[in-house]
Amino acid sequence: MAKSTLSFVCQNCGAAYNRWQGKCESCGEWNTLAEEDTTGSVPLSIRSRRKGRQFALESLTGKSQDAPRLASGMAELDRVTGGGFVRGSVLLVGGDPGIGKSTLLTQAASLLARAGHRAVYISGEEAIAQVRLRAERLGLADAPVQLAAETSVEDIISTLSEGAVPRLIVIDSIQTMWTDTVESAPGTVTQVRASAQALIRFAKKSGAAIILVGHVTKDGQIAGPRVVEHMVDAVLSFEGEGSQQFRILRAMKNRFGPTDEIGVFEMTGSGLREISNPSELFLSERELGSPGTAVFAGIEGTRPLLVEIQALVAPTSLGTPRRAVVGWDPSRLSMVLAVLEAHCGIRLSGHDVYLNVAGGLRIAEPAADVAAAAALVSSLARAPLPADAVYFGEASLSGAVRPVPQTATRLKEAQKLGFSRAIVPEAARNEAPDGLSLSTIDTLADLVGDIARDGLPALRRVGRQDS
Ligand code: TYD
Ligand code: MG
Repeated sequence: MAKSTLSFVCQNCGAAYNRWQGKCESCGEWNTLAEEDTTGSVPLSIRSRRKGRQFALESLTGKSQDAPRLASGMAELDRVTGGGFVRGSVLLVGGDPGIGKSTLLTQAASLLARAGHRAVYISGEEAIAQVRLRAERLGLADAPVQLAAETSVEDIISTLSEGAVPRLIVIDSIQTMWTDTVESAPGTVTQVRASAQALIRFAKKSGAAIILVGHVTKDGQIAGPRVVEHMVDAVLSFEGEGSQQFRILRAMKNRFGPTDEIGVFEMTGSGLREISNPSELFLSERELGSPGTAVFAGIEGTRPLLVEIQALVAPTSLGTPRRAVVGWDPSRLSMVLAVLEAHCGIRLSGHDVYLNVAGGLRIAEPAADVAAAAALVSSLARAPLPADAVYFGEASLSGAVRPVPQTATRLKEAQKLGFSRAIVPEAARNEAPDGLSLSTIDTLADLVGDIARDGLPALRRVGRQDS
């Protein structure tokens, strides 16, 4: 008989303890331990008696088929997965509730089914009628997707083992799945982990690609089972600002492709629309001629992306001025502010500073330093920057402006979108495409000086002090 072992499992990281305690020592979270039955999935008696099977060992140089991929037909989704779904792979798609995960995957499954592949959509959260209603709204009701509202992993696997191997199986969501090999309640870490394991085993064995939908907790982690993130081949995160229509699909981990690509979508009344030129979208609502905004020529993955950086610098009434950032790294903002204070003679200690990346985009590149500095200085001086200029460059602590990768790609995108000037690091001097004029800067002080020269009283004062 298998011995039933009760233990306390952290619902955040999956660490197990044999007594309850307030804090998980493994991940440091409080109050995350819950009692679970962690009896192994194989009964002890079988486990100990089973003799190991012999398998063939391979050499590193042997021929192997390269991962056969199946493109979904949604270019933005394929860009993020690295060219399509790999046979036998398992993908986890995380995102806030209501962000559009089910919509995205219904669309992907329908497109595959229409192309003649067997696609299965298992919903553990919604009834068949709800899924049908969504498909109708998306205009995809005629796609031959196979639907089920099921939550038992054993039933799902035994059903899907029949007939042709499905090319795509969507499990919406992994938190609602349960397997009877473990005793814990559905939704607990042990259940989620065991269910994911069973599904992963099925994917590897059958060659079907499986997409697991995962919920995200308040602090942005895929709920509970961080363990699942380690088990799957790829983790995609679907993000967006609730109030805005843009949705960004980002690869956090990908065994079969790049992790720096993003896919951009717009949520419309009839589903997600792919945005193949996101720069146009992120710049579409630009307020020309208002101070405190600068256009940053960035790179996301292999794709150039122009985005507006907005800054507000206003006198503070607080002892410690406020610094708030949306879409950029707060410590990079502190650094840029410190460099502006130390090397450009700009006093910001009496000002609140807010920085926002338009369109709900998150930028991780240090190349945005110069654009952020330009927006900040422009807001402080209440002087708009030229509407036809883009900015990029990395600032060092000494105030120098450093070159950044893929300069030519950034400049070409700027020119394509009708910009006529770029303010860039010295090293980019010879990379300008026709029709784009460059102003090169060596230091952030040059940038401030340039903005001041355009006739800004507040800054001219600063500039004189400085020189
Ligand atoms: P859904 O895919 O159900 O989100 P998730 O599975 O991530 O929880 O999408 C939910 C939201 O999307 C819902 O608020 C309605 C909106 N929506 C549209 O705006 N247009 C559409 O065509 C569809 C299907 C949904
Ligand atoms: Mg859903």
